[in-house]
Amino acid sequence: MTDLYALSDEHRAIREAVRAIADAKIAPYAAEVDELSRYPQEAADALFAADLHAPHVPEEYGGAGADALATVIVVEEVARACASSSLIPAVNKLGSLPVQLGGDEQLKARYLGKLARGEGGFSYCLSEPDAGSDAANQKTSAVRDGDDWILNGVKRWITNAGVSEYYTVLARTDPNKGSKGISAFVVEKSDEGVSFGAPEKKLGIKGSPTREVYFDDVRIPGDRIIGEEGNGFAIAMQTLDHTRVTIAAQAVGIAQGALDYALGYVKERKQFGKAIAQFQGVEFMLADMGMQIEAARQLTYAAASRSERGSDDLTFFGAAAKAFASDVAMKVTVDAVQLLGGYGFTRDFPVERMMRDAKITQIYEGTNQVQRIVMARQLLAGVQSI
Ligand code: CAA
Repeated sequence: MTDLYALSDEHRAIREAVRAIADAKIAPYAAEVDELSRYPQEAADALFAADLHAPHVPEEYGGAGADALATVIVVEEVARACASSSLIPAVNKLGSLPVQLGGDEQLKARYLGKLARGEGGFSYCLSEPDAGSDAANQKTSAVRDGDDWILNGVKRWITNAGVSEYYTVLARTDPNKGSKGISAFVVEKSDEGVSFGAPEKKLGIKGSPTREVYFDDVRIPGDRIIGEEGNGFAIAMQTLDHTRVTIAAQAVGIAQGALDYALGYVKERKQFGKAIAQFQGVEFMLADMGMQIEAARQLTYAAASRSERGSDDLTFFGAAAKAFASDVAMKVTVDAVQLLGGYGFTRDFPVERMMRDAKITQIYEGTNQVQRIVMARQLLAGVQSI
């Protein structure tokens, strides 16, 4: 894929197909999913039926083989309808990408195949109570026992925990080696000793369960290690370089959903004898919202092209796209609530949900403060992009 400034016909067709599914089968449940904090099963079923539940899985492992840009478009279009539902393809990529990037052929064939066939979703277990932004401060341990590994520890803020069958788990295999003493493993929900905390009570993305995951003497076979012992932190960071692009896409989709709703509203709503769309103060707000979304989309797609190529500057672009698009999503959704006035502040209209959903995009897969650390380090190291 070359750098792009216009979508190919194929990518346009993917957008149209996903939008049709999202409008018909996902959007109608978005308010209820949020209100009841329930898993969006209708979306999960619709995405699976269309082979969009984990579109990034390569064809050789039975997946749809979507490139990074196509995956971004899937996440963006689902998020436009329902942010919680967009976490299905987004987190399936986050959870399984460590296997795809670092696993041996056997592990890839086994687990990417299971994911593609819909045998279960994949979650990503990096964060811990004391390892949030400081991700290298891993306390979860993995100790060898014969050919097996025994895992003990607690993971926190795990998206789709309990729903997913498969988990990429980062664990400390050497207490003396810092970030080089961390390894990555695949753990299954059915492995003895795996259990889950109560679902967190959240501000947004309420349809996507976020729970702690507990590992209590969990014995897994030696072939479940992802790559080499000690490579886990690098694999975890490389994964985030790619998947911060999908969070950027989620943010773009949420923002677009809010703008689209606001555009419809301001044309209908009359005050002082005319549609409020005819007031210049409102026009200026709409213009800024549209301009910011388009800038975020272009940066996200440019980052997707780096993700597809695996370019050196992906680390910068992934962080930049995620930070920029999530800040845009927050601003645009707040403005959408403002445009709807009192109605925007009620749950009878979707924009307050979108505003609450937007907030997490500034926080997860690395806070926007961490993204700025990442970007600055890349700039100072001279990783340039033109
Ligand atoms: N690719 C490859 N290797 C990398 C890397 C990358 N992008 N980033 C770092 N590394 C390597 C470094 O090269 C370094 O190796 P050397 O010692 O050989 O040079 C090693 O990893 C340690 O790197 P740093 O010294 O940069 O590590 P640090 O402790 O300073 O941390 C950090 C850097 C950027 C702050 C990192 O900890 C970070 O990204 N924190 C945020 C964590 C995060 O994003 N968590 C999100 C959890 S997932 C989630 O939210 C998901 C969800 O459920 C939806």
